[in-house]
Amino acid sequence: MEKGALLYEGKAKQVYATQDPERVILHYKDDATAFNGVKKAQIADKGVVNCRLSAYFLEMVRPTVPVHFEKQLSPRDQLCRKVEIIPVEVVVRNRIAGSFAKKLGLAEGGLLSRPVVELFYKSDALNDPPVNEDAALALGWAKAWELLCMREYALEVNRILIGFWDGLGVDVVDFKLEFGRIGQQVVLADEITPDGARLWERGTGRHLDKDVFRRDLGDLSETYREIYHRVFGEQVS
Ligand SMILES: Nc1ncnc2c1ncn2[C@@H]1O[C@H](COP(=O)(O)OP(=O)(O)OP(=O)(O)O)[C@@H](O)[C@H]1O
Ligand SMILES: [Mg+2]
Repeated sequence: MEKGALLYEGKAKQVYATQDPERVILHYKDDATAFNGVKKAQIADKGVVNCRLSAYFLEMVRPTVPVHFEKQLSPRDQLCRKVEIIPVEVVVRNRIAGSFAKKLGLAEGGLLSRPVVELFYKSDALNDPPVNEDAALALGWAKAWELLCMREYALEVNRILIGFWDGLGVDVVDFKLEFGRIGQQVVLADEITPDGARLWERGTGRHLDKDVFRRDLGDLSETYREIYHRVFGEQVS
């Protein structure tokens, strides 16, 4: 499958049309941004690492969660089903961190007694503000059954990711998912990567995710190469 027209260029990926109107190619770039694009850098190999990690995790959840991913075409390119992105991002939290810690005045790190699902309106212009189900319904962003699917799929992804990372001695603190629709089906879209997750090494609390970049905690390229090695047992390049 060849790349056609560039349909969209985001902060981390490009979306290309293909000869098949029902499929797109996602191209993973090395660009990293934080604070909605205010902080920017090139992170060597990030695109390669994220492309393979996302493919791996989307395959992992496929038995119980419908996913857009079909095939890895090259180290940075994935063939995916084209979806209509639902403009409601779903965040799942297992521990207190990030905006959840900040808005509630809590210290980071505490374990939540059950996972917390939060919704955010996908809008760069507004900095992805928090919304609730009523707002999403009233504003026509999603149907009730779609929100139900998104919640259940997100919690299922959480169970799977916790189990996987547990085996590698890493805690899944939180992560963000995007969903899309294909006809009457809700499908997990976009990516599952350390760009949109918090992964803390058990025991040390070391960050194995994009917070290394956001908070200047070290070399993100090295961190991502290390994650790649831990997951795939080989070096990136
Ligand atoms: N299967 C798909 N079909 C169509 N669009 C998709 C699909 N999967 C992901 N997308 C969209 O492609 C874009 C990927 O680009 P990227 O991740 O760089 O975006 P971004 O900079 O995070 O910006 P934003 O998500 O706010 O648009 C996102 O807008 C995402 O919603
Ligand atoms: Mg994105």
